[in-house]
Formats: sequence, C-alpha cells, structure tokens
Amino acid sequence: MKPLIAPSLLAADFLHLADDIEMVNQSDADLFHCDVMDGIFVPNISFGMPVISAIKKMAKKPLDVHLMIVQPERFVNAFKEVGADWLSVHYEACNHLHRVLQQIRDCGMKAGVVLNPHSSVSLIENAIHEADYVLLMSVNPGFGGQSFIPFTLDKIYHLKELILKKNLPALIEVDGGVGLHNAKELINSGADILVAGNAVFQTEDPKNVIKLLKNSC
Ligand code: DX5
Ligand code: ZN
Repeated sequence: MKPLIAPSLLAADFLHLADDIEMVNQSDADLFHCDVMDGIFVPNISFGMPVISAIKKMAKKPLDVHLMIVQPERFVNAFKEVGADWLSVHYEACNHLHRVLQQIRDCGMKAGVVLNPHSSVSLIENAIHEADYVLLMSVNPGFGGQSFIPFTLDKIYHLKELILKKNLPALIEVDGGVGLHNAKELINSGADILVAGNAVFQTEDPKNVIKLLKNSC
C-alpha cells in the first residue's frame, strides 16, 4: 500500500510559509507535519499555537502536530483549539501516557505516541491500544537535516510484529532523515507514514519529491 506522506514544515521557508503550504496543498502529500519544541524536552525551540493556527487557515490537509515538549497534557486542549487533527506526545515526556492518549482521543484528535531512538518498542506495549499511530524517531529530536539512524529499521519490524500480534489498527510513522534514498526500505519494513523535512523543502521541485516518496513502494 502507498504510504502517507507528511512534509515537515520545520524545513519550510518561514518568510514564504504561505507558498510552501499551498505547494503541499497541491501535492500528493497527506498531512502537514508540525514540530513543536519547547527548549526543555529538546535543545531547540520551534513554533507554537499562533503559527499552527495560521497554518490551519490555509491547510487543506490534516495537521499532524508532533509535540516535543515536557508535560504535554497541559496543552492538549489548546492544540485542538488551534487546529491540530493528529497530536503526538513523547513516551519520554509523559508520566501518565495512557491517560494522555485518552485525553487526546477524547478531544476528537488522532492520538500518537512517539519513541526516541533510545526507547525500545516494548515500552509502549501497555499503551499502544490507546494510540492511533506510533511515531518512531529515526534521529534524536530537536533538529531537521540529521542522518537517519539505521537501527530504526529493526524497531519498525518489532513494532509491526507487536501491532499484528495484538491485532491493532495503529499506524507506524517514521520521522528524521527520511528521503528518496531510504523511503522504499522503510515502507517495505512496515512504515505507513513518512515524515520528510529537508528532503522535500530543500529541493528544486518539492512537489515532485513528494510524488516520488508517495510512489516509492
Ligand atoms: C526533528 C523533527 C522532524 C524534522 C525532520 O526533531 O521531529 O520532524 O523536521 O526533518 P528532516 O526530514 O529534515 O530530518
Ligand atoms: Zn517531527
């Protein structure tokens, strides 16, 4: 099956964000990936509610908001209000992951749990049934443009096994260092959603790259 493609706006041109959003609207992409960083959970700060709210006004596809923040439960309602359709929180940032995932679903959003590269897939075994998707970080979060960590392929494989064993509908999203060079391998390993920042926006023809990513299975 063809993967869902989620261009990461972190790599977009913020001076011409409207142009990049329109490009994604007209492309084969399925989601807008929005990276929210707080400077505490990750060593970087990106953007927050006002920017997401502005993106929502133009976006013709759902917003997939990736929270790289501590205590994300404090902001679930706020992100719903500014237009998040999918909301993911890090396993490493939640003391009560099971409850936070329920909170996200109760707000009417798709709930995602994110695992850092060092976190094993088995850690979410008791919460995965509350998740609509699992995001595997294939770089250490905080920055775009990093190299894909090859071990992620094993994690995709183990996660797929877990999902099949429990007969769950959760999708597998991969984020970090994803591009045309590894898209096919990721899809063959079991990835359902590919996030791509630099691989899309730092190219001459982003719309064509999105099309190629979409058809790389
Ligand atoms: C990293 C973010 C990613 C990032 C991906 O912390 O979660 O979504 O934008 O960027 P690329 O695709 O350039 O690695
Ligand atoms: Zn992300």
